[in-house]
Amino acid sequence: MKMYDVITKKQSGRELTEEEIEFFVNGVADGSIPDYQISAFLMAVWFRGMTEEETGILTECMVTSGEIDKLDSIIGKKVDKHSTGGVGDKVSLIVGPMVAAANKGIYVPKMAGRGLGFTGGTLDKLESCKGVNTEISAEEFENIVKDLGFCIAGQSKRLAPADGKLSALRDVTATSGSIPLIAASVMSKKIASGSECIVLDVKCGSGSFCKTLRDAEELARLMVRIGARAKRKTVALITDMSSPLGCAVGNSVEMIEAIRVLEGRGDEKLTELCITLAANMLYAANVDDLESCKAIAEETLYDGSALEKLADLVERLGGDRNYVYDTSLFEESNVTAILVAEKSGYISRIDAYEVGKAASVLGAGREVVGQTIDHTAGIILNKQIGDRIEEGEALATLQAQTLERAQAGMEYLFKAVTISDYPPEERKIIIKSI
Ligand code: URA
Repeated sequence: MKMYDVITKKQSGRELTEEEIEFFVNGVADGSIPDYQISAFLMAVWFRGMTEEETGILTECMVTSGEIDKLDSIIGKKVDKHSTGGVGDKVSLIVGPMVAAANKGIYVPKMAGRGLGFTGGTLDKLESCKGVNTEISAEEFENIVKDLGFCIAGQSKRLAPADGKLSALRDVTATSGSIPLIAASVMSKKIASGSECIVLDVKCGSGSFCKTLRDAEELARLMVRIGARAKRKTVALITDMSSPLGCAVGNSVEMIEAIRVLEGRGDEKLTELCITLAANMLYAANVDDLESCKAIAEETLYDGSALEKLADLVERLGGDRNYVYDTSLFEESNVTAILVAEKSGYISRIDAYEVGKAASVLGAGREVVGQTIDHTAGIILNKQIGDRIEEGEALATLQAQTLERAQAGMEYLFKAVTISDYPPEERKIIIKSI
């Protein structure tokens, strides 16, 4: 078989066979297919798409390109959660501790990424607590899951290695937004990491891959079907990403916001989303009916047990647990700038994509793999959509290491916000469950 022929077949929109997809994934994993041919193939998929059958086979081949974690030493149901990614998404830092704190014998082995673009990923946010090291061995990961009921650590390179290579090339070839490629990427990692139940948070709006509800539904349905094919109980929630999630966008600022939610005094919509996701994780693992699972999840925020779980994780990963109880310990940025309202009215738009770009120019993200990011850079929104604001009132605080970066961030943030004479229609955070 020749890769050239596989590319031309997909380029002309024909359905690939199992052998052809297997040939492609094996060649990616063992390095025998050069990057330029992989990139050409990815672009052909971007234009021509893949059938559900092709996407299912692609996912299975990506799973078998590496090891599959059995987590045999953990007796109890394992539930994983994955978000398709958005601006201000600190949810994994909150729901992992919540499900563990529910103390129902359910385990959350959460492997997370670093992320490119707007801000760092979950690992970068966690590492804003000094001393935390998320690159731990498989053995240590399993031990922490067993002891705490959950762990958040770096994605093991042993699992779905073909995804690592494909994701890196998708990032630089403008093919990240292809629905079958997103589905195979997410589900191959989730299936390989061994959980029986998977809860997916499919983001919809300007700050996510899926800009329209139609795309988000297509992606959610596809991933749920791939999960069923692999005999994993899979649930997807479609949630709003037209504006940033919560008030903080960055790394340490998002970690601090996650702590506020775990203290039971977080942003209302973010808290609602976390309770719903944690409840769905408990429900998927057959703990109780969905309403009771919501009550169980909520209780962990108000009795302090979920906060303690996060402190336990920080400590087990080599950090200082006091960061979770005293957020003044987080390192501060050199420069703080305030964006004020140029007129009075109601906040009618805070565009997630534009806020993401502002965070990125402030220094909160990375442009290439391996680049160091500034944990202290970020944005704190003082107002949310629908809030009244008066001329000259503080709309947001920006943090950066230099004045130049703060000014550049300010320009983007200014464009991200619209103030109108009338309050906008209320938008729900949870749009749909699939
Ligand atoms: N999350 C992933 O893991 N992969 C994608 O392609 C998109 C979101």
